[in-house]
Amino acid sequence: MLEGKKVIVGITGSIAAYKAAFLVRLLMQQGAEVRVVMTPSAVNFITPLTLSSLTGNPVHVQLQDQDTWHSHIELGLWADLMIIAPCTATTLAKMAIGQADNLLLAVYLSLRCPVMIAPAMDVDMWRHPSVQQNVQILVGRSHILIPVGNGKLASGLTGEGRMAEPQEIVESVQTFFYKNLTLKGLRVLITSGPTREPLDPVRFLTNRSSGKMGAALAESFLKMGAEVTIVSGPVAEGLYPPNAKVIQVETAEEMLNACLDSADSADWFVFAAAVADYRPEEVSAEKLKKNHPEWTIRMVKNPDIAREISSRRKSHQRMIGFALETEHEREHAIQKLHTKNLDCIVLNSLKHPGAGFETDTNKVTVFCNDKSEVDIDLRKKSEVAEGIVSFLISKYI
Ligand code: C5P
Repeated sequence: MLEGKKVIVGITGSIAAYKAAFLVRLLMQQGAEVRVVMTPSAVNFITPLTLSSLTGNPVHVQLQDQDTWHSHIELGLWADLMIIAPCTATTLAKMAIGQADNLLLAVYLSLRCPVMIAPAMDVDMWRHPSVQQNVQILVGRSHILIPVGNGKLASGLTGEGRMAEPQEIVESVQTFFYKNLTLKGLRVLITSGPTREPLDPVRFLTNRSSGKMGAALAESFLKMGAEVTIVSGPVAEGLYPPNAKVIQVETAEEMLNACLDSADSADWFVFAAAVADYRPEEVSAEKLKKNHPEWTIRMVKNPDIAREISSRRKSHQRMIGFALETEHEREHAIQKLHTKNLDCIVLNSLKHPGAGFETDTNKVTVFCNDKSEVDIDLRKKSEVAEGIVSFLISKYI
């Protein structure tokens, strides 16, 4: 995804510097050309040799080594993007005031390309008003801030301040490079995850769905520059990409209402949610007591969200559904394509080991209303999502 992109990774003196080696590797695996600059204190945490071995390029730390002058201007002109990861409180402060007392800062001041910052520090340092003020100054200069994580810190304290994981940083890099691409300006609404239909304040009926496919689709659409809104039932925290707008719902009716709110403004609808087809007719206000030998629940039909939305469709809107089938897969999927008035439907067959819900892999076939179809082989859900999005682009853009 990053072929031909020229990226400078700037490493500063933080315990998180070891993660920079993973970051460099991931960027290179994606096809980026990477050059590394380090502050003198960063070499106490990770050796330049490790990074020069990974990149195949010399790593620069000093403005001059013995009798060689390193041109920070040349690097600044070369790069398409500079990522400072980890970025310490000291480097943040020097960037904010334009101090260039090491090579990394001299490169930074010579850049003509955008800058990403992945801060790393202890929770109290991160919260300190002077650090927050410096962050705001840099964000105000259109630097891209990669949010710090929350969790256990090297000091033993717990809280905000951890450097984002290398994979998250690479995702931000991909979004940065691809936001100008094919789907720029396209608004995509994705339904994702299960719905929960309450019986009483503590019990509910639901479907087995992790939301992983919806998350992978969101990621693929974002990479191509689309604006993504996810209307999601309850899923694991942190599942969805941070740059997607997420509307959390519980029941099918809430999911429908959230989709109706976007019915005019979205261009493409992707119905990846596992919506409960029925809900209990009555929801008890109090917890139901288990004093009956049997319990019969009367169920009523939930609205079909895909059908409702497609019945209101405008001519430029596209409707993409999903079907999870266990028998007569092809016939059932094509039937749903027509009854729900969709443009295409993505069939998951539970007969394929590794396909379906709660797995990390998937294998699908996409059927379109013009009778065309395409198979996407068993791969990671992220790759299947990229395959689906590429297919949709080839079809509708
Ligand atoms: O459940 P069913 O097999 O009919 O689901 C097929 C497609 O319809 C999926 O895209 C699913 O998200 C959508 N659907 C919906 N509302 C429902 C049931 C399913 O949007 N109540």
